[in-house]
Amino acid sequence: MTEKFVAAIDQGTTSSRCIIFGHDGAIVAVDQREHRQIFPKPGWVEHDAAEIWSKVQAVVAGALDGAGLRADQLSALGITNQRETTVLWDRATGKPVHNAIVWQDTRTSALCHELGGEDGQDRFRDTTGLPLASYFSGPKAAWLLDEVPGLRLRAERGEIAFGTIDSWLIWNLTGGTDGGVHVTDVTNASRTMLMNLETLQWDPSILAAMRVPEAVLPEIRSSAEVYGTAVGRLAGVPVASALGDQQAAVFGQACYDTGTAKNTYGTGSFLLLNTGERPVPSKNGLITTLGYKIGSAAPVYCLEGSIAITGALVQWFRDQLGLIRSADEIEPLAASVDDNGGAYVVPAFSGLFAPYWRSDARGVITGLTGYVTKAHLARAVLEATSWQTREVVDAMYQDSGVRITTLKVDGGMTANNLLMQHQADVLGVPVIRPKVSETTCLGAAYAAGLATGVWSDLDELKAHWQRDADWSPQMAAEVREREYGNWRKAVERSFGWHEEAAR
Ligand SMILES: Nc1ncnc2c1ncn2[C@@H]1O[C@H](COP(=O)(O)OP(=O)(O)OP(=O)(O)O)[C@@H](O)[C@H]1O
Ligand SMILES: [Mg+2]
Repeated sequence: MTEKFVAAIDQGTTSSRCIIFGHDGAIVAVDQREHRQIFPKPGWVEHDAAEIWSKVQAVVAGALDGAGLRADQLSALGITNQRETTVLWDRATGKPVHNAIVWQDTRTSALCHELGGEDGQDRFRDTTGLPLASYFSGPKAAWLLDEVPGLRLRAERGEIAFGTIDSWLIWNLTGGTDGGVHVTDVTNASRTMLMNLETLQWDPSILAAMRVPEAVLPEIRSSAEVYGTAVGRLAGVPVASALGDQQAAVFGQACYDTGTAKNTYGTGSFLLLNTGERPVPSKNGLITTLGYKIGSAAPVYCLEGSIAITGALVQWFRDQLGLIRSADEIEPLAASVDDNGGAYVVPAFSGLFAPYWRSDARGVITGLTGYVTKAHLARAVLEATSWQTREVVDAMYQDSGVRITTLKVDGGMTANNLLMQHQADVLGVPVIRPKVSETTCLGAAYAAGLATGVWSDLDELKAHWQRDADWSPQMAAEVREREYGNWRKAVERSFGWHEEAAR
């Protein structure tokens, strides 16, 4: 039999990728394109969902051409996506009714505060696993329904569809206005704040409280099953998985056993710990989320430490300050000095997510003296990523009692050796990077391949995982504790800046 391939689309915050994998899990072809970041006001971030759909079509074509493959040589297509980003579109025309509101956008802070009422930030936590925060999709949808003239009425009449990016892509891939299927998977649905974590269904009381009409919502399905058949360039290919990008990385990193964890370093960083078939509530600022659900098998849950800004701080250092020309230039600049010179950067651009959930925080640079150079700042920028990770690792231990003994890492920032060494140093445990660092696409491909019989089970997938590089802790304990103390003082300085959002 001739070899069949599996394609995955990773629709991320900054770019869309399509990767085609062979049966052994190795990459056959990649294509990637960026899309526009739209910043209408401080704290607001939007994407054009129509642009995203056209970039996705372009990278699919690019990957197929690069591999020299036709659609009929693909066994399945998997989808993974930036999570929470919210699209509302007109079912009749297929056009978005507004720019998508991106997960980092803070415009719903006041609405979330109002929704909390006397119960505060944890009003829906027992049901959804999430604190009320501008991060999640439900309030973003509610904001659009309130603010776009006439939209609520049209939504109640069933003319409007809501979706996170997975739903938007699957609907378009399977025909759009001509029979597109309107579905989402449990991982993406778990980020709306509208789904009950135990029943995996939309929660009627939360829908009522948030005033989101049921008529706009997609059907919630598992993460690995055939949702429909693609049309267009991928005509005939089963669309067979959907996972939020971070959950896809869990799957691609083969974190299938309870107690295994990974951290992905992209725009933000997201550390997920597999807690097995029961959701574990967090008391220390983490969130409880779906990990994956493969077909009719029981769902697997994770505890997650969500950090909004890590790689995006490097981009800011490059694009807004202009101190480097490309992200990889930050490493030699940081390595040109021995330490941070006393400077700390807390990138609270969208407030702070885990473990603080403070929408009133804004970014600060502390410890400045005349001694500090751009090289010290480059170090402080990188160190902000490892300290934020340390904070969520500590919270994970407090919540679960699981002490992470090694950390599997992936994502663009793991190319940075200085950062990975610092990460191992501040955690005091080894950090390991796999051979296929594109774990997000790989996870979506694995799930789609499981749904269509390309791979038979998790053990087969686990056997693909191979170590590429690792870093062992070298920092003296007293240096680590002193620096951690300084970091926490810097974090406190970021609190209470944006007073309208103060709780
Ligand atoms: N050598 C490097 N050192 C530090 N940061 C880097 C380096 N190379 C890339 N980055 C950062 O990594 C991020 C890109 O990582 P990656 O490609 O995994 O993200 P992404 O998947 O595109 O993100 P998203 O899914 O959020 O769109 C960028 O924010 C960039 O600033
Ligand atoms: Mg990504």
